[in-house]
Amino acid sequence: MQPISVTLSTQLKEKPQDESKLGFGRIFTDHMFIMDYEAGKGWFDPRIVPYQNFSMDPASVVLHYGQAIFEGTKCYRRQDGGLQLFRPAANMARMSRSAERMGMPALDEELALEGLKELVKVEQDWVPHQDGTSLYIRPTMISSDVQLGVHASKTYRFFIICSPVGSYYKNGLQPVSIYVEDKYVRAVRGGTGFTKCAGNYAASILAGEIAEKKGYSQVLWLDGVEQKYVEEVGSMNMMFAYGDKIVTPALNGSILPGITRDSILTLARQLGYETEEKRIAIRDVFDDGKAGTLTEAFGTGTAAVISPVGELLMDEERLILQDGKIGPVAQKLYDTLTGIQYGRLPDENGWIVKIS
Ligand code: COI
Repeated sequence: MQPISVTLSTQLKEKPQDESKLGFGRIFTDHMFIMDYEAGKGWFDPRIVPYQNFSMDPASVVLHYGQAIFEGTKCYRRQDGGLQLFRPAANMARMSRSAERMGMPALDEELALEGLKELVKVEQDWVPHQDGTSLYIRPTMISSDVQLGVHASKTYRFFIICSPVGSYYKNGLQPVSIYVEDKYVRAVRGGTGFTKCAGNYAASILAGEIAEKKGYSQVLWLDGVEQKYVEEVGSMNMMFAYGDKIVTPALNGSILPGITRDSILTLARQLGYETEEKRIAIRDVFDDGKAGTLTEAFGTGTAAVISPVGELLMDEERLILQDGKIGPVAQKLYDTLTGIQYGRLPDENGWIVKIS
């Protein structure tokens, strides 16, 4: 493997004093990992350098045509002070799949993972201590050719930045209210919905803003053809509990194959819950919720962890679940997942990568 050079910053930033006020993605650490790509040469010059601005030509392909993909993973501090990552190789593998769909080069997954681990070692003092906090890690790949023709770039940059975070939603584990979007769609079959490309998120921003103005935290996307079936919430995959049975939309090409989604389905089965991946009509969600057979709804994601959904609004119709409180299934899965991530519970699936 190519050696990773390290240039340490001579001007370290002040670390946040109050870990209860970290929020999400506002503070960045002292260093970043970078490597570059050229067609015919592959990935080269892997390096850890002080966190810094990029200088870019205004005609860079990424600025015009959005060839940009990213990942999100976290480093957790155990009670003994040691650090650990959760399934980081799965993020690198997903980034290669996103890259293929976006006409970008496959990642050197091994080198990227090594860069990530080395960066976390350099930034170890930035991993917060309080329960529920972590160091959020954002691997990103962008195209860097300078041209206005719509063609794949021949040059790319991969970089990783880190941010100490608390919970993604401002009220932590308090259930969120979700607005069912029936005008705009996020993705269609054959499109880029299954990738973590910047464009998927760009397409979601307007609907998110409208929902926020109405007092809702996020938008629940429906399928792009009939607008009848549940897809995802953009920052999380959706799960519905019918007592001890957990149902989630099947991976159909237009929703993100979430790593937390996959982990929760595995843990749920190990805990004795029945799971089913299928097409879920939003009408059934409302009808079953009102009939009381659907008992809980929650989202899963790296940033969001497990986020109970206390309310869904579709048109003028409102569905309140669990009296707006977290339900027992979401709580059990949250405790199990975070127990493994923070080293309080044994990792029986080989998901943890210890850093120290
Ligand atoms: C993550 O959960 O890591 C994500 O990338 C979602 C996000 C847009 C914050």
